[in-house]
Amino acid sequence: MAEPLTILLVGGGGREHALAWRLRQENPSSRILAAPGNPGIGEIATCVPVRATDAAGLVALARQERVDWTLVGPEAPLAAGLADAFRAESMPIFGPSRAAAAIESSKAFSKGIMVDAGVPTARARTCGSLAEANRAIDELADESQRVVIKASGLAAGKGVIVATSIDDARSAAAAMLSDHAFGEAGDTVLVEEFMDGEELSVFVITDGERVVTLPASQDHKRLADGDRGPNTGGMGAYCPVSLTDSPAFTDDVVDRVVRPTLAALQARGAPFTGLLYVGLMLTAAGPKVVEFNCRFGDPETETVLPALGDDAGIFDAMSTVARGGRLSESSVAADRAAVTTVIAAAGYPEQPRTGDAIRLPAAERDVFVFHAGTTKGKSGSLETSGGRVLAVTGVGPTLEDARARSQEYARGVEFAGKQFRSDIAWRELSRRARASRD
Ligand code: AMP
Ligand code: GLY
Repeated sequence: MAEPLTILLVGGGGREHALAWRLRQENPSSRILAAPGNPGIGEIATCVPVRATDAAGLVALARQERVDWTLVGPEAPLAAGLADAFRAESMPIFGPSRAAAAIESSKAFSKGIMVDAGVPTARARTCGSLAEANRAIDELADESQRVVIKASGLAAGKGVIVATSIDDARSAAAAMLSDHAFGEAGDTVLVEEFMDGEELSVFVITDGERVVTLPASQDHKRLADGDRGPNTGGMGAYCPVSLTDSPAFTDDVVDRVVRPTLAALQARGAPFTGLLYVGLMLTAAGPKVVEFNCRFGDPETETVLPALGDDAGIFDAMSTVARGGRLSESSVAADRAAVTTVIAAAGYPEQPRTGDAIRLPAAERDVFVFHAGTTKGKSGSLETSGGRVLAVTGVGPTLEDARARSQEYARGVEFAGKQFRSDIAWRELSRRARASRD
């Protein structure tokens, strides 16, 4: 029997609901506290009204409740030094230090690490002035004038412009550097070569040196079917991805990307422990890194965790890392297919409307309904409270089964103005259709 433990889970979105579910599933006797949690998490854990960014409040809560270890969901508290605050008190925590979280919170730092480590990625220039940025745009734009402009700091996924003309690229750089469209986050910009290909997300649990890799998934960032409409935090994901279905793929990513990156962080005095999210582009010249994140992805977590077998050992791996132990290396494969459909509020992503009453269909077998932006209204009924409202994951023996379950439940969810995509996993399904024709 596993010993009963008290775990503190920091955050309150769909990713944290999926993490709470997995912790409970792998270690049923544990007590889970979520700060602040959400109504879905509240069904399997105890929610405590402490904000994810309130470091002093979280340290006090962990001490008072004799928490064994803490798991941090979102990036903002990590970038602000939450893990350092816990470690200063000798309290175990799963998540990188502020210095190591810069791999996500500073794209300039992250690119510097990639260059030091010789990691395959797009060529880029870090620019602090418009004159520099305009020179870099002329240097790095391809023959179709495609070039990417990125605010260096955290901009909630909105600080990246994939420009398709020199004029658009210049305007994007001016908006960031001269008009401060992203505040301080855009005081430094990265001008980067455009990369063409499919994107993948790979999660790696690491103690700073040794790694446990999870199966790759594919996010769908655009709002509408056919990958049209504005960029979002992610409208859905699926797992496994056949393109990555070989040990050679994982070994390649670990050897060419993950190990050199961890070594470069260590060499800069910022060893990384926790979850390293590797955002990859599968280009014609092989996989290249688009970005690193210092935490689990959302909605990919809602997809990947339900795809794993019951004995995947995620709880133990995170617990070992949180306590400063040594991981035994492994590569965890998907045990079944999973498809997540995100249901977003009216007005998402620009101006999500809140306060719409939600009606959920009855629970279904092999369907997980993860709450992302929900709250209990005055009458105690469920209401929308954020841009992404629910992440509905279907699982099954095939991708088709998983997708049908996710979609059917998503169609049955009721709230005014709901938006969701009906084509999650389309790339994989069309790949298979092509393969069966050939
Ligand atoms: P990032 O925040 O760096 O992950 O960028 C957000 C999104 O912009 C990525 O998920 C890609 O879809 C796109 N993107 C970023 N960098 C590039 C690039 N160099 N070439 C093409 N697309 C990119
Ligand atoms: N789904 C993208 C991210 O978590 O950053």
